Amino acid sequence: MLVLGRAPVEAGQPRFPPQRIQFRKQDFVMSNAGPKADHGANPVPAFARRSAALKGAVRVPGDKSVSHRSLIFGTLAVGETRISGLLEGEDVLNTAKACAALGATVERLGEGEWRVEGVGVGGLQAPEGVLDFGNAGTGSRLMMGVVAGNPIAATFDGDASLRKRPMRRILDPLEQMGVQVVDAAEGGRLPLTLKGPRELVPITYESPVASAQIKSAVLLAGLGAPGATTVIEKEASRDHTERMLTHFGAEVSVEPYGAHGRKVTLKGRPELKPAPIRVPADPSSAAFPLVAALIVPGSEVVIEGVMTNPLRTGLFITLKEMGADIAFENERVEGGESVADIRVRASALHGVEVPAERAPSMIDEYPVLAVAAAFATGTTRMNGLSELRVKESDRLAAVADGLKAAGVTHRIDGDDLIVEGAGRAAGGGTVATHMDHRIAMSFLVMGLATDKPLKVDDISFIATSFPTFLAQMRALGADIVEGVEAAA
Ligand code: S3P
Repeated sequence: MLVLGRAPVEAGQPRFPPQRIQFRKQDFVMSNAGPKADHGANPVPAFARRSAALKGAVRVPGDKSVSHRSLIFGTLAVGETRISGLLEGEDVLNTAKACAALGATVERLGEGEWRVEGVGVGGLQAPEGVLDFGNAGTGSRLMMGVVAGNPIAATFDGDASLRKRPMRRILDPLEQMGVQVVDAAEGGRLPLTLKGPRELVPITYESPVASAQIKSAVLLAGLGAPGATTVIEKEASRDHTERMLTHFGAEVSVEPYGAHGRKVTLKGRPELKPAPIRVPADPSSAAFPLVAALIVPGSEVVIEGVMTNPLRTGLFITLKEMGADIAFENERVEGGESVADIRVRASALHGVEVPAERAPSMIDEYPVLAVAAAFATGTTRMNGLSELRVKESDRLAAVADGLKAAGVTHRIDGDDLIVEGAGRAAGGGTVATHMDHRIAMSFLVMGLATDKPLKVDDISFIATSFPTFLAQMRALGADIVEGVEAAA
């Protein structure tokens, strides 16, 4: 029997036994007895303390967005897809299990090395159990699009955080395409059951929010529809789905739309062909050692092989505007994405105004930008953050509370966050993470430079996206300790 339990987040050693792990339909049914209602039931607190200069080189894990998609496209292609550099975080492993529950064989060959034996567009089998996505919005929403293109029913569930997140934004377009929402919790939330129709209707969908998850769910459903499915977004969101569709042989056209938007059209019912995928390092994870190196005096750190897709680099642009010493070295293309080694040195930062239209390119990076802003001098205004309210936590509120715990002057004005940077922060308080990995990591980074230690109430969710965070940060010199008694 295959059981994937919660691995210790500090583990420097491989997270899996050396023998092969294989997810097949029957394994999934055995191992996934029901939704993890108790995800987060055993909180693990930690303290970050003022650290000496951070030094060294680090390669953060594979990009989460690309990792989810590589497993999904592997499932939708007929034959074997090989993936290297896959992020082995809980979110992605839940997608792997869901792919297996729908009929693919998903096998781990070595660290980050995986193979998927796909079943083809329209070839999915009905899962025998509930598909449990844990904490993962991306996994659950993209897989709703995948299921939509097959005449099967599937039930989606997740942890307490995911059950709070809006799913109507996915269900609305899928219903327009003919998908039946058999059952759902109040407001269209998880747990919910979808049933794909015999014949999907291709649509043109203008998304009310710039969201790669909405766009991807509609396009993935569109794979199963005859004719063209189009998604229009007023501001361009990350384009990994479009890139991967092309990589697997689908016909996709992308046109500009208005000042910042795009119109993406997919020709339905392609035969997707397996294609190798090399997952680049996640810029959203790189953000943590990067900001840590900026705010801990004397630091110099290199983060290797980081994806620099222009739809993901809003944080790097903003930090440079703030005066950050960041250099992109060895710029190259790997597996269809631009990557670079990023050299970062501790810098005197100053406050800036971050325009709302930049939000989609740095949506996951605002918590750690707020940390950088606290150590800058002057005001940083981050505009148009309404989407932060519906992430793994209400990140706008969680960041504001965290800044308060660290003694940083700030305010929320409508959907904008304003941080009054003083070049330092007191620390000394406790940050509530609300089952949100990025809140935990952002404030652990902050505590490396605060006057007094900063406590984070639960670091266990870091394993969803960056299981090697503690080990890699410590290797650079970060002083982070787990457990209540370690405060002194
Ligand atoms: C993601 C899209 C983003 C991001 C999430 C990953 C993706 O969400 O916050 O972490 O892989 O498509 P939205 O596009 O819904 O804002």
